[in-house]
Amino acid sequence: MRMTVVGGGSTYTPELIDGISRLRESLSIDEVVLTDPAAERLELVAGLARRILARGGHPARVTATTDLDAAVTGADVVLIQLRVGGQAARIGDETWPLDCGCLGQETTGAGGLAKALRTVPVVLDVADRVRRLAAPGAWIVDFTNPVGIVTRALLDAGHRAVGLCNVAIGLQRYFARLLEVAPERVELDHVGLNHLTWERAVRLDGVDQLPRLLDRHAADIAGHLHLPESVLTRLGSIPSYYLRYFYQHDAVVEEQRREPSRGQRVADIEEQLLRMYADETLDEKPALLSERGGAFYSEAAINLVASLMSDRGDVQVVNVRNEGTFPFLPAEAVIEVPGTVTSGAVAPVKVEPVDPLYAGLISHVSAYEELALDAALRGGRDRVFRALLAHPLVGQINLADQLTDRLLSANRQHLAWA
Ligand code: G6P
Ligand code: MN
Repeated sequence: MRMTVVGGGSTYTPELIDGISRLRESLSIDEVVLTDPAAERLELVAGLARRILARGGHPARVTATTDLDAAVTGADVVLIQLRVGGQAARIGDETWPLDCGCLGQETTGAGGLAKALRTVPVVLDVADRVRRLAAPGAWIVDFTNPVGIVTRALLDAGHRAVGLCNVAIGLQRYFARLLEVAPERVELDHVGLNHLTWERAVRLDGVDQLPRLLDRHAADIAGHLHLPESVLTRLGSIPSYYLRYFYQHDAVVEEQRREPSRGQRVADIEEQLLRMYADETLDEKPALLSERGGAFYSEAAINLVASLMSDRGDVQVVNVRNEGTFPFLPAEAVIEVPGTVTSGAVAPVKVEPVDPLYAGLISHVSAYEELALDAALRGGRDRVFRALLAHPLVGQINLADQLTDRLLSANRQHLAWA
C-alpha cells in the first residue's frame, strides 16, 4: 500500500513514521511518500523517517518530493496535515485577536476563522489532485485544522474523506492509565464538534466508569485539562481542554496577554527538532517531540487507515457528516463522534440525546462553521463579518467589525480575494 503525506515535511512526521514502524501488524505499507513545498525541511524529515524504519526493520520505502502531483499519483490513502503560512501565520492567529479582548487560538474564535480561510482553498486543491491522480477509491484522511470545517469542505466537494483529531484517543489513553487497564478496553461516549467535545461516559468493557473516575481522580483530570475541578463535578461529564476557551474565555485572554504564544513556543521546539533530525546518527523520534500537542496522532491515523483498508468495521472517533445523529443540526453538518469504519464508508454510531447544556453550544458553533466555510469558499469582507458575528465568542457588531479588519490585514498575503 502506498500512503502519501501532504505536509510531510512537518516536524510531526517522525511520530507518524514511528507508529508505522511499531504498528506494522495492523497496517502493511510498502511506500510512504512525503511531500512538502519546503524542500530542505522535507529532506531532513525524510532522512530521519528512513532511519526510523530501517531501525525497526520495516521494509517500506520513503520517497520525498516537492511535486504534489507526483506525490499523490497512485496513492491508496492521502493524509493531509498542512499548515498554510506556517507557525508565523499561527502566531498571528494567536495574537491579534487579543487586541480586541478576544481569545487568540489557532482553531477557536477569530484566529480559527483566519486559519479556515487560509486553509480550505489549499486543501481543496490538494483533494482535486487526489481525485485525478490517486488510486481509484483512495481515501483522504484530514488532520489539517480546523478539522471540522476542512472535512465539511472536502465532503461537500464530493471527496472520499474523513477528519481526524487526537483529542479522543489522547483521553482514551489517559483514562486507561488512570483505570490501569489496556486502552483498547476503554470506549468513550464522545460527542460534539472537533475541538468542542464532551465525554459523557468512559466505558470499560461496556460499563461506565466516569463517575468512578470523577470520584477518585477529579483533581488529576482537571489538571490534565487545565480546567477547574468544579467544572467536571458540576457537569458530570469531561469536556476537552478546548472548552476552556469558552468556559474561561476572559481568564484565558488575561493569561495569553502575559505569556508568549503557543506558536512561538512551537517555533522554538521545531528549530531544535530540525537540528536533531539533521543528525544522521539519530534513528528514533526524539523525546522533545512529545512537547508538541500531537500525542497518539500516529496511533489514531494508523488505526483509522487500517480499518479503511481492511474493512474491520470497528468504532473510532472521527469527523463525519451528522446524518441525523444530532437531530438539532443539519444532516450535512460535520460532527465529531464515534463512527463505524469500513472500507466503503465511515458512519456515525447512534448516540444518546444530547443535553441542552452541550447542544446549545454545539448548534451555535456549527452554524458559525457553516458561515466560516462559506467565507472560505467565496471570500468577501461581509462573509467574514457574518461568520464572526455568529461566533459565540464574538457576537457583537462592533467587535465583529474590528476583528474582521484585523483578520483581513493580517492574512492578505494568504487570501486570493482579499
Ligand atoms: C492537539 C490538537 C491538534 C493541534 C495540536 C497543536 O493535538 O488536537 O489539532 O494541531 O494539538 O499542537 P501544537 O504542539 O502545535 O501546539
Ligand atoms: Mn485536533
